[in-house]
Amino acid sequence: MIRSTVADRPEVKSLAIHGGAPVSDNTISLISVSLSEEDIDAALGVLRSGMLAAGKNVIAFEEAFADASDARFGLACANGTCALQLAYGPLFGPGDEVLVPAWTYIATASMIVAAGAIPVFCDVDPETYNLDLEDAARRVTPKTKAIAATHLYGNPVDINATQALADKHGLSIVYDAAQAHLATYNGKGIGAYGDAVTYSFYPTKNMTTGEGGMVTVNDEKLRDKVKALRSHGEGAKYVHESIGFNYRMSDVEGAIGLSQFGRLADATKARQANAARLDAAIADIAGLHAPKVTPGAESAYHLYAVRLDHDAFVTPDGDTDIHQLFLDAMKAEGIATAVHYPRAVTRQPVFDGPGMEHPPVSDRLSKQLFCVPVHQNLTDAEVGRVGEALAKVAAAYRA
Ligand SMILES: Cc1ncc(COP(=O)(O)O)c(C=O)c1O
Repeated sequence: MIRSTVADRPEVKSLAIHGGAPVSDNTISLISVSLSEEDIDAALGVLRSGMLAAGKNVIAFEEAFADASDARFGLACANGTCALQLAYGPLFGPGDEVLVPAWTYIATASMIVAAGAIPVFCDVDPETYNLDLEDAARRVTPKTKAIAATHLYGNPVDINATQALADKHGLSIVYDAAQAHLATYNGKGIGAYGDAVTYSFYPTKNMTTGEGGMVTVNDEKLRDKVKALRSHGEGAKYVHESIGFNYRMSDVEGAIGLSQFGRLADATKARQANAARLDAAIADIAGLHAPKVTPGAESAYHLYAVRLDHDAFVTPDGDTDIHQLFLDAMKAEGIATAVHYPRAVTRQPVFDGPGMEHPPVSDRLSKQLFCVPVHQNLTDAEVGRVGEALAKVAAAYRA
């Protein structure tokens, strides 16, 4: 098994998106990318066959992934951003308004703009960090066409409330599950809900294909539209019935995906077990909060975001940023952390500007949350060290 951490792969996007500074050898990494000999053999097998374009491995991967997610159809594609475009394209377009959380990765919102539609930024719940459905309800207008809700950090949004809002106003729903492979809600895989669910298989995600993505759907007509959009609107060979793209996944990626998928259920269980131990450790630390899992849901724990109460701590000189002090102190204890995200989407230069509203909870979270390691390759001792470091740092800065 080849395991690489963000620290020894400075070239990967994760360094940028996770804000992770290079760390020492003893540091417990935030992310662990595992490639097994089986993954490598699977990729080599496709290379040796010479059949590189989407083929039997992609199809087998799509079927296995959709089945495990309780969805009828899986459509693999080039990455999670394409997956959003493929899901959004058939459901809304120019002039439509789409409700989206202000606290998510940029792509959930930016691909709404790419579809020609208007993102309407909503606030998030202060404990689950997912779409606040009451705030979303207040922002519905006659132009609202859809809800794009993220299952952030692996934790499903309140799907019952999302569906109720959609039913009330006749809206479509796309769930961005880039971080939530194999998460469940009310005992079913998250693929059972909404019009479409999208995934990413970027290396830092819970499983990878290198770059890759998937859309799952349950409706045959929608499946056909996503398929057409994925491949230049092609029906019969070289007969193009609509405008589309080439967002297909290669069979090399499909083979890696299928092989990785074989370990995903165990990896998810390991993440959940690690999270349960972190929950128990944090329950004893005043001023720190474990992430709240949505009632009825099982999180895939892509990330474990700890929330810090500013009032519970003091800084040595009274005016330094306690959030940054926590990050620095955790690093000194040998624990890699990162802030997902350093700013709300409404604060991104591409969206911010005159008249932009900044929903208050989303706006605060960048100074309250920090992610600690929860990945499947942590040893028991390492999980213990994360909890001990949190307790030690909290005691050092206690008000
Ligand atoms: C919530 C969310 N949506 C969408 C994406 C985009 O996925 P990709 O990087 O595969 O294009 C990501 C990946 O970082 C993500 O975390």
